[in-house]
Amino acid sequence: MNTKTLRLGVLVSGRGSNMEAIIKAGEEGKLNAKVVVVISDRSEAPALKKAERKNIKSLYVNPKQFSTKAEYEEELIKIFSSFEVDLIILAGFMRLLSPRFLSYYKNKVLNIHPSLLPSFPGLEPQKQAIDYGVKVSGCTVHFVDEGMDTGPIILQRAVPVLEDDDAESLAERILKEEHDLYWRAIQLIAEGRVTIEGRKVILK
Ligand code: GAR
Repeated sequence: MNTKTLRLGVLVSGRGSNMEAIIKAGEEGKLNAKVVVVISDRSEAPALKKAERKNIKSLYVNPKQFSTKAEYEEELIKIFSSFEVDLIILAGFMRLLSPRFLSYYKNKVLNIHPSLLPSFPGLEPQKQAIDYGVKVSGCTVHFVDEGMDTGPIILQRAVPVLEDDDAESLAERILKEEHDLYWRAIQLIAEGRVTIEGRKVILK
């Protein structure tokens, strides 16, 4: 199989544990991809320091410095282009990207969401799952389209909801699975095994 080493650009807003898991999978040789640049929309995001410690270029780009969202995203595109990224990885990035950005990077932006989509999109999906009373939740890696957590699904993993779970304990168990799922989805792309037909992802 013709596996290519992908250059990844990561967008983060916070802790960055998914980003770390992807970096680690690359270091361990399980994932044919390398994080080449990390951009945060929050200066205090711990993810920035974590990436720096790995000698990965990490940048804070303040959305408020730009008068429009288009200009902010233009800057993101400029940076990602200069690093020649093949894929953009949203790892806890709490901002919606515009249709313009997404058409520039068509089918090249991935996200992970801590629920079994299409259940519980948006904010606090683990709390939504607990409040609804589902017995199973999980996580989803998907291509990003113009909707909120609506793009074609690449991989999902189920996590049981336990009797005594609260949003925090469920989030913790889902997160463990996220760390093992995200790099696998990226690896499928690196191996050229992913095609999109309509809103379905076909895995070869
Ligand atoms: C993760 O649980 C991720 O799935 C979620 O934010 C957390 C980020 O953690 N993302 C979303 O809810 C996106 N809608 P991390 O910064 O430690 O990777």
